[in-house]
Amino acid sequence: MAIRTIREIGDPVLNKISKEVTAITPRIKDLIGDMFETMYEANGVGLAAPQVGILKRIVVIDASGEGNDPLLLINPRILETSGEQSGNEACLSVPGKTGIVTRPNYVKVAAQDEDLKPIEIEGEELLARAICHELEHLDGHLYVEKVEGELMDMEMEEDDGE
Ligand code: NI
Repeated sequence: MAIRTIREIGDPVLNKISKEVTAITPRIKDLIGDMFETMYEANGVGLAAPQVGILKRIVVIDASGEGNDPLLLINPRILETSGEQSGNEACLSVPGKTGIVTRPNYVKVAAQDEDLKPIEIEGEELLARAICHELEHLDGHLYVEKVEGELMDMEMEEDDGE
């Protein structure tokens, strides 16, 4: 496994639509392993393949904050949402920034696992937020398009809270 370079806002690959995964090849397996490693190394909650420059519909998420709840979603699509949550969001492709985004508080997704078997995942709160955020990457969208008010500097935010 290897750490991949995370593409940052302004890189055109982040605005492109990713393609469905139709077969699990050794390259795709390597990509998935690298995506988990890259996400954990960057202390992220989620990472989508276009963020490492690969236009495939693959997302990794770990909302546990402790690295013990790895979730892989291949070809994910949202089946159901409910409720609402409003809170700070950030993205590894927009380093040092944060902004307020309103998301559903619950989502149900259909996806495929590492063997392309169909799975269904339900998430609430942070996991629901992460799923919505990561799925948008697959269609070329960044959370900054949805921020309410201004995009803030993360360090300044932390200073304000002390
Ligand atoms: Ni992101």
